[in-house]
Formats: sequence, C-alpha cells, structure tokens
Amino acid sequence: MTDKASLVEDLTKKLNLKEDDIQYTAYKGEIEIQEIIALIECELSEPYTIFTYRFFLNNWPELCFLARDPSGQLVGIVISKKSIHNHLQRGYIGMIVVDKRYRRLGIGMKREKEEHIR
Ligand SMILES: CC(C)(COP(=O)(O)OP(=O)(O)OC[C@H]1O[C@@H](n2cnc3c(N)ncnc32)[C@H](O)[C@@H]1OP(=O)(O)O)[C@@H](O)C(=O)NCCC(=O)NCCS
Repeated sequence: MTDKASLVEDLTKKLNLKEDDIQYTAYKGEIEIQEIIALIECELSEPYTIFTYRFFLNNWPELCFLARDPSGQLVGIVISKKSIHNHLQRGYIGMIVVDKRYRRLGIGMKREKEEHIR
C-alpha cells in the first residue's frame, strides 16, 4: 500500500467514514449561505463581505460545490467563477476550504462528475 493510500485509510478509520460517505452537492441557494460563510470564516484568515459571497454564488451557482459528512455537516466548499479572456474561457477559484479534520482525504481534489454531484 502506498503512503498516500495508508494515510487515507488511517484518516477514514479515525473519522469512522466509509468510501462514498461524503456527499457532494451543487449550491442550492441562499438557504446554504450562512453555513458556507461559517466554514470559510473558520478556516480562512481573510475576511470576505456578504457581497463577495453573493457575487460568486449568485452569478455562478453552478460552480459552487459543497461536501457534507454523513450527518449532513458541511465539511468542504469550493466557490468559483468563470470569465472570457482573450476569447478563452478562464476558470477561477475564489475560495476553497476543507474542514481540518477531513483534509487529505481527496475532498479538495474531487472532480465534478455527474455521478458525484446531487
Ligand atoms: C487546500 C485544501 C482545500 C485541500 O483540501 P484537501 O481535501 O485536504 O485536499 P486533498 O485531500 O484533495 O489533497 C489534494 C492535494 O493537495 C495537496 N495538499 C493538501 N493538503 C496538503 C498539505 N497539508 N500539505 C501539502 N500538500 C497538501 C496535496 O498535493 C494533495 O494531494 P496528495 O494528498 O495526493 O498529496 C485544505 O488544505 C484547506 O482547506 N486549506 C485551508 C484553506 C486554504 O488554504 N484554501 C486555499 C486558499 S482559498
């Protein structure tokens, strides 16, 4: 087993998680904004105003993804935007945070795949 694989195994055991226990969802709307802000404020030192959150979330809701543990608690969030630059689409990650207890499990790297996003 590789170091990475054994690290993930140790962490998932410690958290009592099974594979696929983390649920990924697209942003549903304003109802989720307070918990998103709470997680980001807890993990990032830079303060953002509500206008910054709404700028991203209202313009590109389809580029915001949430990760929840089996109890439904928010444990990861990515907020992004896209723009056209020199005729090319350019993606930009505004904020990405994973709860400290859930890091190094691959949540931050999870790719958008239809079967993962509900
Ligand atoms: C950055 C962050 C979102 C990564 O989330 P994560 O779910 O732990 O990331 P993953 O498990 O998907 O790991 C992805 C890769 O990121 C790198 N990485 C993640 N955490 C790392 C750490 N503590 N040290 C070094 N590399 C790290 C590794 O390359 C890792 O791949 P590997 O595990 O195969 O080596 C998380 O560490 C975090 O929330 N940090 C604080 C917030 C922050 O700095 N956000 C970015 C600025 S907005």
